[in-house]
Amino acid sequence: MQKVTLKKAVFPVAGLGTRFLPATKAQPKEMLPVVDKPLIQYAVEEAYAAGIRHMIFVTGRNKRAIEDHFDTAYELETELEAAGKHKLLELVRSMNPGDMDFSYVRQPRSLGLGHAVLCAEHLVGNEPFAVLLADDLMVGSPPVLAQMAEQFAQLHQSVLAVQEVPAEQTRRYGIVAGETVNDKLIKVGTMVEKPAPEVAPSRMGVAGRYVLTPAVFRHIRNQSTGVGGEIQLTDGIAGLMNEESVYAFQYSGKRYDCGSKEGFLEATVELALAHPEVGEHFRNYLKNLQVA
Ligand code: UTP
Repeated sequence: MQKVTLKKAVFPVAGLGTRFLPATKAQPKEMLPVVDKPLIQYAVEEAYAAGIRHMIFVTGRNKRAIEDHFDTAYELETELEAAGKHKLLELVRSMNPGDMDFSYVRQPRSLGLGHAVLCAEHLVGNEPFAVLLADDLMVGSPPVLAQMAEQFAQLHQSVLAVQEVPAEQTRRYGIVAGETVNDKLIKVGTMVEKPAPEVAPSRMGVAGRYVLTPAVFRHIRNQSTGVGGEIQLTDGIAGLMNEESVYAFQYSGKRYDCGSKEGFLEATVELALAHPEVGEHFRNYLKNLQVA
């Protein structure tokens, strides 16, 4: 069988981010920084590490900051060069190593994650693609999407990142259940969006990383609105399962739900502790902090 590689990643960044108001009133939540890097940059670096070079953003009303972030900043670069700040110049330039393409498409209204993904259909075309929700910050070695790309190269079918979630939290996730293939892989038989714990088919919750085949677009298009009156990606994937196999992959690594304040703070503390520049200082600071 010919090896199929992933070339494109879709980043839906058009959500309203209401849990983070007022910070997200005039900027997308994906631009919130964890230590010194916006969430979206962590996700783009993860896609790059998985071999992907075409980054497609589905943006909303407050799109400018993301476009500017990945664009060349001539004025800034000239100033840094003139001031001899070569390390900073290198840092700014390294964000776009020159072998990446960036495309932007607008989701006119926040009609749901499925609808956002559908907005990217004409840029993805008829090939498999990744979807990364940047508000799920993933730390893994190898990076989580690279682990999934490896699975996809063998399976040639859609792969969803899953993790076990506490029973009382099933309402926050798409929950999958199915046939165990091995200790990391489940062939998905059922998928339900945000079920109550009593009716959840398992405790395997979908995290914000997907590798999907292009047939999913047809299923998203043909579905009616789901939970919360939104066009759900989960329902599109459930439709896809009538036609193709879909696998759930238990990745190795840690996920921070940076769409919530708690998850964002946890990510900030843990990534700050691991940060080469500020980690040691921050550790000492925390040690001396009088917490109850
Ligand atoms: P969330 O469910 O976290 O929604 O979306 P949200 O609007 O961003 O945040 P809250 O709940 O109001 O605080 C999951 C992902 O899907 C994208 C979001 O940007 C986020 O990355 N999304 C969601 C869209 O791009 N469009 C939508 O219509 C909905």
